[in-house]
Amino acid sequence: MAEETVTDSPDLGAGDGVRRRDFINIAAVSAAGVAGVSILVPLISQMAPSADVLAASSTEVDISAVQPGQAIKAVFRKQPVFIRNLTPAEIAQANKVPVTSLRDPQTLAERTKEGKENWLITMGVCTHLGCVPLGAGEGETKGEFGGYFCPCHGSHYDTAARIRKGPAPSNLEVPEYEFMSDTVVKIG
Ligand code: FES
Repeated sequence: MAEETVTDSPDLGAGDGVRRRDFINIAAVSAAGVAGVSILVPLISQMAPSADVLAASSTEVDISAVQPGQAIKAVFRKQPVFIRNLTPAEIAQANKVPVTSLRDPQTLAERTKEGKENWLITMGVCTHLGCVPLGAGEGETKGEFGGYFCPCHGSHYDTAARIRKGPAPSNLEVPEYEFMSDTVVKIG
């Protein structure tokens, strides 16, 4: 039996070749899609960690072995963190940059703790598309500005981990942290 072509709807004219059965199928799929979304939303909200679980997850790192000019990588909430002990020359290099010339204007002092300006603690996640920049590991290139270099698309960060060149829109993020002592820092 030939299928009936829909001709009585302005949206479903005979010219577009949509048949009534196709229309019914489309309507059924759309209804299933809506049901799918309404099931997914509660599932996703159940999977997301609650605010208190996130707040409780912190990382304590012993920094006693990190000499000036060295950096280590830690992990915080499954993401890399760079902890760097800046040399006096690296601090001076960061401080001599006119802040207003920066894409994401911040001083080194604003990105470190008072009295501990040599400890630069940032996420090791490029603010462009999330690659892990080079520069914290032994022998890795630090880029044109002596800080970090993201080889994914060529973002260069300076000795305060501020974006200086390339597509990244902002500085490497400074996470919440505090010094528990001179040698232990708690991130988070
Ligand atoms: S992800 Fe780092 S430059 Fe694109």
